[in-house]
Amino acid sequence: MADVRAMCAIGRRGQLGLTGRMPWEGEQAPEYAADVRRFWEMTRGHVLLVGPVTYRSIPAFAHQERTIVEIRSSMQPEEVIARFPDRIVFVGGGPAVWAAYAPLIRIWDITRLPYDGPADRWFDPAWLCGTGG
Ligand SMILES: NC(=O)c1ccc[n+]([C@@H]2O[C@H](COP(=O)([O-])OP(=O)(O)OC[C@H]3O[C@@H](n4cnc5c(N)ncnc54)[C@H](OP(=O)(O)O)[C@@H]3O)[C@@H](O)[C@H]2O)c1
Repeated sequence: MADVRAMCAIGRRGQLGLTGRMPWEGEQAPEYAADVRRFWEMTRGHVLLVGPVTYRSIPAFAHQERTIVEIRSSMQPEEVIARFPDRIVFVGGGPAVWAAYAPLIRIWDITRLPYDGPADRWFDPAWLCGTGG
């Protein structure tokens, strides 16, 4: 059975995304670069499930060392997870994806960043209880 985890980074108020990108894209402070580096390290060799918008934001190099799968709302979460027995599967967003896969997620890895600006996608603490927002 797959080991299902979620990994995300949020701003001070739970900001997750802005116009299809990370809200803090272009920020130069070291914690932002460290977070991206850690994401690629932690997911190396594993499966990463993402919605279509997030999929399009993934750089080409990342596909070499991990299995990145674009998932759609037409797919059943249990059936998607069942495709990867004995693998570590990271659920990588966006929000509708985390809400749908929340009941299957065992580990949440959330990095809080010092970003305090705008967002159009937000973290929902209800996901941690295995329920969609
Ligand atoms: N801060 C972070 O850690 C982090 C991580 C990831 C993404 N983000 C940000 O989040 C934003 C992207 O998220 P998004 O929500 O706009 O788009 P998204 O990544 O495409 O994710 C949402 C879409 O996933 C699809 N989906 C797949 N399986 C689903 C299911 N079982 N139930 C419901 N929907 C499902 C749906 O599209 P269909 O109905 O078309 O299939 C849904 O609209 C970007 O700004 C990105 O940078 C941030």
